[in-house]
This record gives sequence, structure tokens and C-alpha cells, in this order.
Amino acid sequence: MPGVERVLVTGGAGFIGANFVRHVVTHTDARVTVLDKLTYAASPEALADLPADRVTLVTGDVADTATVDPLVAAHDTVVHLAAESHNDNSLDDPEPFIRTNVVGTYVLLEAVRKADARFHHVSTDEVYGDLALDDPKRFTEDTPYRPSSPYSAAKAGSDHLVRAWVRSFGVRATISNCSNNYGPWQHVEKFIPRQITEVLEGRRPRLYGDGQQVRDWIHVDDHSSALLTILEHGRIGETYLVGADGERSNLEVARSLLRLMGRPEDDYELVADRAGHDQRYAIESGKLRLELGWQPRFGDLDGGLAETIEWYRAHRDWWAPRKAATEAAYAAKGQ
Ligand code: NAD
Ligand code: DAU
Repeated sequence: MPGVERVLVTGGAGFIGANFVRHVVTHTDARVTVLDKLTYAASPEALADLPADRVTLVTGDVADTATVDPLVAAHDTVVHLAAESHNDNSLDDPEPFIRTNVVGTYVLLEAVRKADARFHHVSTDEVYGDLALDDPKRFTEDTPYRPSSPYSAAKAGSDHLVRAWVRSFGVRATISNCSNNYGPWQHVEKFIPRQITEVLEGRRPRLYGDGQQVRDWIHVDDHSSALLTILEHGRIGETYLVGADGERSNLEVARSLLRLMGRPEDDYELVADRAGHDQRYAIESGKLRLELGWQPRFGDLDGGLAETIEWYRAHRDWWAPRKAATEAAYAAKGQ
């Protein structure tokens, strides 16, 4: 990558972070340092087979200045993914979401300001709130911020900090807001891996409320290629929405998974709804496609789901211990 030789990836042991690190190692010559607190959501196993001379894992907190400042100073580029990422957890206990997502981003921004490093902030479409199920509109870079949950409000706060540091201090930053990712190494607390592993355990997919809510699915490899495209060609100070035209209701996704796994399509359960549940997300990603020439590779959601099912079949040793703890917490909430 031109000008990108030493990349610090925060949250690089998480789902998207680990897939992104693999993408960078495969598609560039850059050396990568991962800074990750190794919370319950981390999977250092996902980095274990990458070459040791290309990838180094540092265990630490993005909200800790003493850890962050010297690390940032030793890199030309920072890609910031570290976050508390699960909406349901943010409803149970918002505090870590404020500390990591808001304070952590502030600490990193101060460090890149001092070191004059390039910064890319990985954010979410949830900052825009939700759309009605019958609304033909999609989110664009100009949609007003209207977050619903403690998670999305904390991510919205972090986006505002990044823009303020660009404007006030000339920090060289870009932002991307992506829709729902799926693929290998996603924690079993999230919708698609939860339902795949429920079926693999002989139980039924569990849909919140009436299951009609819509998410806009993108394969994690397409998110990684979008991030690399923005790092290489993105304009400083700009925001890019990332999406792959993958709108489906939760019910439609559950039915696809059941069919692909050889079970009757109506073999699911409706359970207690999420408080404040966002109805629909939908991304218009024309700016990224037209200005930077990015295209998603996974056009067919069912094909991506079939690959993901096979991955979870082959990685039971990784997900089984996480599954037990996750399902105990959901059961306590009637979900
Ligand atoms: P994840 O929960 O799988 O991984 C998060 C990683 O961050 C974990 O490895 C965790 O240990 C680490 N982390 C948490 N707190 C930390 C701290 N204080 N210091 C250092 N590391 C810390 O999350 P994900 O799904 O991979 O999401 C990654 C990023 O992408 C997040 O910023 C999220 O908001 C954003 N995003 C996610 C999606 C999605 O669909 N999952 C979509 C759009 C944007
Ligand atoms: O849109 C991007 C966001 O997508 C990211 O910013 C978040 O980090 C990521 O977690 C994801 O947020 P969601 O809340 O949309 O994802 P989740 O997988 O938790 O839920 C997806 C949908 O499925 C949502 O409508 C809630 C529903 N759901 C979820 C679970 C876990 C169910 O119906 N049943 C379930 O068991």
C-alpha cells in the first residue's frame, strides 16, 4: 500500500479486525500490529496462522494513554476497530461502551494528533437510527444522526470526535459506516452465528419480536476490501458508507439458514423483543463505488451463508465454550 508500511489495527483480534488483518497481510506488504484488550469478544486464535514477521499482537486497552501513545508513534497508519460491539450488551450495561467506544477513540485521536499518523475510524450504519419497513429510502452520507441504543449512541459520539479532530486539529482521518457483517470468526452472540449454532446443537433459531426487522448484510471480506480501498484512495475528512445491497428480514435469513441446513423453514421460535429494537437499516454505497471504484465480491447472500454454515460446522471447538456462556445470558432474559 503506498505510504502504508506500519499499520496499527485496534480490535484486530475481534471478528472484523481479524478478518481485516488477514486481508492486509494477503493483499499488501504492510506490517501489522494489533492492539486488543482481549475481551470476551476476542479470538487471538484467528491470527495464530499469520506470519510472525508480519503480525504482532499487543494486549492492551485503547483507553490507556500510556499504552496507546508510544504504539501510535511507531506506526504511520491506525485503523480503529476496537469497540464494545453488541447492542444487547449495551442495554444490560452501557458503561464499557462509553469507556471503550468514546474515551478510547478520544485517546487514539490525541495520539495520532501528536504523531501525525493517518487514522481510519471504523463505524456503523446504526448511527443513523432506523428506517420504517415501508420507507423506500436508504442511508446516505448526508442522513442525520439519530442513534437508538447505548452502543450506537457511543459510536455516533466517536464519529463526531473524529470529525472535530479533523476540522480543529488537521488530523488526517477518514470514517466508514458499514452495515451488518457476517462470516467466519463472528461471536455466537450475534444473529447469524447464533442461529447457525442453535441449529447445529439441535435447537431452533430464535427471532426477537415478530422477526420482521430488516438488516443489510455484507460479507466481512467485502468490508475488509472496502477498508483497504478507503485507506489507499479515500479523501481525508470524508465519510464513506459501506454496504452490499443485502437487505433481508431476520425471518428471511432464518428461513434461508434452516433450508441450507436441511430443516423445515418454519422451524423457528419467536422470543422476547429487544428494547428499542431498530426496524430497518439500508445502505446506499454509491459514493464508495463511484468515487473509489470499490465493488463487493459476495453478490449472493445464500452462497455466503452456505460457506459460513460450513465454517461453523468445522470450528465447533472454537465456538462451543462461547456458546454456553452466551446462551445462559440470553436465557435469563427470555431470549
Ligand atoms: P467484536 O466485538 O467482534 O470485536 C471487538 C474487538 O475489540 C475485540 O477483539 C475486543 O477484545 C476488542 N476491544 C474491546 N474493547 C477494547 C479496548 N478497550 N481496547 C482494545 N481492544 C478492545 O466487534 P466487530 O463486530 O469485529 O466490530 C469491529 C468494529 O466494527 C467496531 O468498531 C464496530 O462498531 C464496527 N462495526 C461492526 C459491524 C458488524 O456488523 N459487526 C458493522 C459495522 C461496524
Ligand atoms: O448495522 C451494523 C451493526 O450490526 C453493528 O454496528 C453491530 O456491531 C452489530 O452487532 C450489528 O448490530 P445488530 O444489532 O443489527 O446485530 P445483531 O446480530 O445483534 O442482530 C441482528 C438482528 O437480529 C437484529 O434485528 C436483532 C435480531 N436478533 C438478534 C439475535 C442475537 C434476533 O432476532 N435474534 C437473536 O437471537
